[in-house]
Parts: sequence; C-alpha cells; structure tokens
Amino acid sequence: MAEPRAFVTGFPISHSRSPIIHRYWLKQHALRGNYDAVPVEPKDFASFLDRVRKGEFVGGNVTIPHKEQAFAGVDWRDEAAEAIGAVNTLWMDGGKLCGGNTDAYGFAADLDQSAPGWDKARTALVIGAGGAARAIVHALMARGFADIRIANRTQARAEDLAAHFGGPVTAHRLEGAADLATDAGLVVNTTSVGMKGEDGAPLDVAHLPSSAIVSDIVYVPLQTPLLADARRRGLKTVNGLGMLLHQAVPGFERWFGVRPEVTPELRALIEADVAAAR
Ligand code: ATR
Repeated sequence: MAEPRAFVTGFPISHSRSPIIHRYWLKQHALRGNYDAVPVEPKDFASFLDRVRKGEFVGGNVTIPHKEQAFAGVDWRDEAAEAIGAVNTLWMDGGKLCGGNTDAYGFAADLDQSAPGWDKARTALVIGAGGAARAIVHALMARGFADIRIANRTQARAEDLAAHFGGPVTAHRLEGAADLATDAGLVVNTTSVGMKGEDGAPLDVAHLPSSAIVSDIVYVPLQTPLLADARRRGLKTVNGLGMLLHQAVPGFERWFGVRPEVTPELRALIEADVAAAR
C-alpha cells in the first residue's frame, strides 16, 4: 500500500510550520507516512478537494485563504466547524469528505497546559473580530465564560460576531477596550497588531487586574509588544505557538492513528524555526 500522505494547503503556504510539526510526530512514533505543504490557488481549490476525495491523501490541514471554501466544499462538518464557519482539518470517512475545525480546541488545550485554571476567569476581552476571533469566542463559550467582550477597530464586525454567537457575547469599539479590561480575567489578541514588522500593543495592560492572563494568538514574533508589556507588569502570558501546536493534534490522530503529544522538545523545535526566520 502507498504511504499515507497528508497535507497543509494555503496560498501562499511556504511559511507554514505544519510540516515540521507533523513530520516530527511521524518520526517520533516511527510511522509510515508523509506530510507536505501543497500550494493551491483559490481558483483551483475545488479541484484540489476532488483529489482528496479520490484518495490521493488521507486528509490534511487548510489555512488562509481556503478555510471558508473548505467549509462550503465538504460533505460533512463537525460541530466546531459549524459554529465557527470555517474548516481547518479534512479527512475521509466512509467515502465522505469530512471537515472539522480544531482552532478552538487548540486554543483551549494550550491554555489547559500553559495556564491551568484559566477558564475560571469567566470574563474575557477578545480583541479583533476576524476568523481567528470566531474560533476563540467559540472556545470561550464552550468553556462556560459568562461575559465575552469583543473589541474591534471596525465595530460593525464585532456586532456581526456578537449577533452570530449571542448569549454572553457583546460588541465594542477598540477605543473602549481600556474600560472593558478593568475586570477581565483573560485578554486574547486575535488581530495582526504586533506581528512581524508592526509596532505597538492593541491594549494598554495597565488597565488589567493583576490576576489577568494575557494571550496573543500571534507567534511571529513569539513575544509580541502586548505580551512584553504584560510580562513587565508581572501578568501571566501565553503566546500563540501552543495554539498552533495543539490544533495539529486531532488531525494527526485521524490520519495516522496515534494521538500525539505537544512535548517541550517540539515547542523548542518550532521556537528555533520562528527565531531563525526573523
Ligand atoms: P483573521 O482571520 O486572521 O482573524 P481577519 O479576518 O483579516 O484575519 O481579521 C483581522 C483582525 O485584525 C480584524 O479584527 C481587524 O480589524 P478590522 O475588522 O477593523 O479590520 C484587526 N486588525 C488588523 N489590523 C489592525 C490594526 N492595525 N489595528 C486594529 N485592528 C487591526
């Protein structure tokens, strides 16, 4: 039998760290198989899904800009994908192309490992209202957060998100984030503010309670200006690397049959790669 082959597809895709993660686990568990980065232009994505249906791959990961096309193109979606409106993991089951979303799982699993007890905070401030914010809000709702405040530069997008999720989710302007921060137990930056080449933090951490946990889903750089400010104030911080590592776990298990672990060695491997790219 041919070696099971999985993929990550996006456009562009050369920056993806997913091949390093999955190849590490394949090697660690001495499994047959491979995991490759496959660039696919948006116009070719539907025919790429046909290649998956025909059995060229056991499944794979989908990233920017294909997560919404993947959502529309699969035969079955898991609950998280339905709630988030995007698919990041594909696999075949009984002739059906299945799509899941493991971003919310990855976020929560990383906090479970990096900041145990994080979900006792109950009140969260989410900065940003894009695709990543959807996954975070879904994770927070699943963990029973009672008050989830979305602050976004474009308030209308925050309102769309609040209307989509309902319940404990409210929409706010980014300018109002300081007031929303004073009793927030958890802050999550889901915007690109602080990414490579961009300066500044999206929030002044002076407004946060001293018990707050500050999380940033950005992992290039590993320490964003927001996290650096939070650390200087002595707050607990969590960078975006762990979410990247943990979101990969369910896909690997589906394709290769072993549930892998996010080990300190794997973290160090990706940290070194991110540092070398800077
Ligand atoms: P993703 O799917 O990665 O979340 P996205 O959908 O493009 O990406 O969303 C990017 C988020 O970062 C948005 O909340 C965006 O704010 P707008 O909705 O106002 O565009 C936010 N963002 C990007 N650059 C920003 C900046 N310089 N200041 C504040 N917010 C910014």
